[in-house]
Amino acid sequence: MFNSRIRKAAVATALGLVFGTAAAANPGVTLGRAATPAEIHAWNIDVRPDFQGLPDGHGSVAEGEKLWEAKCASCHGDFADSNSVFPPLVGAFQATAKEMKEGVVPALGKGGGTSIEKLSSLSTLFDYIHRAMPWTAPLSLSWNDTYALVAYLMNLANVVPSNYVLTRDNVQAVQDKLPNRNGMIRLTGMWPGNEFGKQPGPDTHNVECMRHCAPKPVIQTTIPEYAVDASGNLADQNRAWGPIRGQVTLSKAAKEALAKKEAMAASDPNAKVMDLLKAKGCLACHSTGSNTVVGPGYEAIAKKYGGKAGEIAVLETHIMKGVSGIWGSIPMPPQSVSEADAKLIATWVVGGAKH
Ligand code: HEC
Ligand code: HEC
Repeated sequence: MFNSRIRKAAVATALGLVFGTAAAANPGVTLGRAATPAEIHAWNIDVRPDFQGLPDGHGSVAEGEKLWEAKCASCHGDFADSNSVFPPLVGAFQATAKEMKEGVVPALGKGGGTSIEKLSSLSTLFDYIHRAMPWTAPLSLSWNDTYALVAYLMNLANVVPSNYVLTRDNVQAVQDKLPNRNGMIRLTGMWPGNEFGKQPGPDTHNVECMRHCAPKPVIQTTIPEYAVDASGNLADQNRAWGPIRGQVTLSKAAKEALAKKEAMAASDPNAKVMDLLKAKGCLACHSTGSNTVVGPGYEAIAKKYGGKAGEIAVLETHIMKGVSGIWGSIPMPPQSVSEADAKLIATWVVGGAKH
């Protein structure tokens, strides 16, 4: 209905341009038509930093906790500190009492902080949650729900106590306690009267180069070294939602440490055997301890054969050809491992199955 109304308005406009006389003088006047209050209402859903646009409402921390568990915890964790779908919203970082008093969290400049520490306008949280969350059902929350969820997050961030009830009347008081309320960076010309004071207005005065131009720049984003692993190594994380997966986001130091660990593991025969057991599916039936899964645990096998070097060849054959009747009624089918690998594993077992 909305679309067809726009279309009708467009047709009316086109006719107006053909037949109207005012249109010739100032075509802008007759372009389209005034939006109806209902249309404006449907579009006008933002909440501004001064809370203009935030409807009346109320929600307690306790109500927020219940809603959170039902609608948000599956992705963000019970305490909004999960890193599995999105980096922690709260909890991984706590602003100090001094920072909360001054309203600036300096650690943010070094890549620390969670969403709540970064937040400088509480309105953003209202606006974002109401319009975009839950991820699978945006715009499904009532304003009271949103008040309650904001209250809950504020409580998790230690900004309000657990018996707090957030209302339209006290949002400003909570805003005045946000850890990073004074920390917004205004270094760009987007802000008239910015810190540098040199750029009076937006920095959009570039003129396109026509002659003797420098090579066309490649525009790309990079994460500075100090912040690259702020959320751990994305390549190790299996995110169920969102488009980004799998980039290696380790700092240089962490990459070097990992390479060192891998090099050490490569020269460690026990680690090599563990890799083999995993790769060949042995651990589906054998634990590394003494408990039986389908077959006996490797510690139990080691106890039986440990120190008897003569048994290496026997075990090697049993692994490759299969074996039955030694440990119980369930047989082990032949395993597809090379002779060299079977020998390595058998030697490891007889050596005590250390891991
Ligand atoms: C199905 C998974 C899922 C559920 C459920 C979910 N979220 Fe989210 N949430 C996400 C993802 C993914 C993002 C990041 C979205 C993006 O950056 O585009 C996100 C981002 C956010 C952010 C912004 C954080 C930031 O720093 O930008 C807030 C706040 C948030 N969610 C709150 C909630 C609340 C409140 C609920 C429950 C009503 C909820 N989420 C439910 C997946 C989910
Ligand atoms: C489908 C389950 C299963 C898988 C997979 C499996 N095993 Fe076994 N394994 C068993 C069972 C059952 C026994 C006990 C057989 C018996 O009683 O003789 C056993 C026994 C053994 C023994 C002791 C043999 C002896 O002579 O006492 C070794 C060593 C062993 N397995 C190694 C391996 C290795 C190495 C792999 C992977 C390459 C592997 N197993 C995969 C089920 C399995």
